[in-house]
Amino acid sequence: MFKKLATGAAFALALIPAASFAAGGGDQHIEDYSFSFEGPFGSYDQNQLQRGLQIFTEVCSACHGLKQVPIRTLSAETGPGIPADQVRAYAAENFSVFDPELDEDRPAKPTDHFPVNDAAGAPDLSLMAKARAGFHGPAGLGLNQLFKGMGGAEYIASLMTGYTGETKEEAGTLFYENTAFPGGWISMAPPLSDELVEFTDGHSNDLHHLSEDVSAFLMWAAEPKMMERKKAGFVGVLILTLLSVLLYLTNKRLWAPHKGKKLS
Ligand code: HEC
Repeated sequence: MFKKLATGAAFALALIPAASFAAGGGDQHIEDYSFSFEGPFGSYDQNQLQRGLQIFTEVCSACHGLKQVPIRTLSAETGPGIPADQVRAYAAENFSVFDPELDEDRPAKPTDHFPVNDAAGAPDLSLMAKARAGFHGPAGLGLNQLFKGMGGAEYIASLMTGYTGETKEEAGTLFYENTAFPGGWISMAPPLSDELVEFTDGHSNDLHHLSEDVSAFLMWAAEPKMMERKKAGFVGVLILTLLSVLLYLTNKRLWAPHKGKKLS
């Protein structure tokens, strides 16, 4: 969508050769997925976020933390939209946190954040989808993000599907070849595979769909207010357009008596 708008604008035409050049360079391969939240009017798909949450909980949370995300935000209307009572049950069932007052672990509550998890040396995923948005392009200008709407969610999905099956051992650590990971070798074993997670509604659970769903969820985790931001931006543009029209008309009107008169 944005690509179409941009290509219409003359200034963008001058930049396009730079963008395609950027896409050709580098050794990373990032797939251009189409997510529901892309484009100026895009929004998160609640069902997809709920599936992504399930994948994160059942698979990724074994190694990764999500420490900046408050569990209660799972009920956000523009997010997964899970009813508050279900969020309470989910928190208590799946996570426990250390309570300094009790001096012991207790079941998590919606007011807690998702737990920290650094046992496996895996990075926290709270902001990963934003941190990895700037791939491609000279000096990481993120031109692919501008022209193709590609960002961190594409990177994460490509990472999940980018394993070639090759492995190598270096200094006692096993590395897996991955076409999306910068440098080509990552120490995370392929976390997802076909039918690894089952959904109650029977939604497709092949590797490709699972990868997209968990990436959408992590995008929401990193940027829960994306939709509000887009809406505010749109209203801003609308007001500025109206203002420009009014200014133009006022200007015309003010100068009308003087137009066509000869200066003497
Ligand atoms: C068995 C443990 C384990 C599981 C399960 C796991 N990861 Fe990882 N993950 C790691 C480790 C370790 C790293 C660091 C890899 C490195 O830097 O070589 C990592 C790194 C990452 C990165 C960062 C890559 C980068 O650009 O630095 C992302 C994104 C990621 N994992 C996503 C996921 C997702 C999504 C899931 C669930 C579907 C998942 N991981 C499940 C261990 C795990």
